[in-house]
Amino acid sequence: MSEELKKITTNTLLNLKRKGEKISMITAYDFSFAKIFDKAGIDIILVGDSASNVMAGNETTVTITLDQMIYHAQCVRKAVSRSLMVVDLPFGSYQSNSDIALASAIRMMKESGAHAVKMEGGAEIADSIKKIIDAGIPVMGHLGLTPQSIYKFGTYAVRAKEAAEAEKLQSDALLLEKAGCFAIVLEKIPAQLANTVSKSLEIPTIGIGAGKDCDGQVLVMHDLLGINQEFRPRFIRQYLNLESSIQQAVQSYIGDVKSLDFPNESESY
Ligand code: KIV
Repeated sequence: MSEELKKITTNTLLNLKRKGEKISMITAYDFSFAKIFDKAGIDIILVGDSASNVMAGNETTVTITLDQMIYHAQCVRKAVSRSLMVVDLPFGSYQSNSDIALASAIRMMKESGAHAVKMEGGAEIADSIKKIIDAGIPVMGHLGLTPQSIYKFGTYAVRAKEAAEAEKLQSDALLLEKAGCFAIVLEKIPAQLANTVSKSLEIPTIGIGAGKDCDGQVLVMHDLLGINQEFRPRFIRQYLNLESSIQQAVQSYIGDVKSLDFPNESESY
């Protein structure tokens, strides 16, 4: 089988880092988009808890439930044939103790068919991460800006600019690697810190707002495709203006319906 058609596994990601080839990751929450992304050759599809914002219209990721994340993951899983599919464990499904964390991860794997779970946090959740990995479930870590803790931070501003927080992040990254995580998302931290962390680890880092030296990059699909023009922080590169294209298409449709142009004879039975 050609290299391009091979399924992506956690080992593939390690090899990509060793070879110096960057890893691509995008979020998806439904069957149709996930199918397009998988076909396009993306390495990792993340069913992010950003579903809370972009799918459900909530202000934060805090409110999405495990059942809702399982639903999105089930939809995406049916579309994935080559990419590695990672799903966020949502807030409240793993923070209280390691038994509950393991039960949540097992539910996600069994009910959705996901390949791995992602969890936000460092030393505070290391025991839970270890227990989940010991049970045979791959875990992706997530450090820096961890949106599930937004009410603790009080802001979505860049994290770890001060030395103390930067040192904790570096030691958390090493701890997650030691616990057995196969990769770590670094969100909204200074590029220099992301460079240092990436160099200190054998496992890959996947950055979002963390500069070019991470071993891979992730974007939320709505940001990459330009579905929400109101959200334009500097770390986003928008590859399409889908909001405007969709609006134009729907306006044309409305016009055609109102003017009796649609449907015409060839579009009728
Ligand atoms: O939920 C999400 O979309 C994420 C990415 C921003 C990494 O966690």
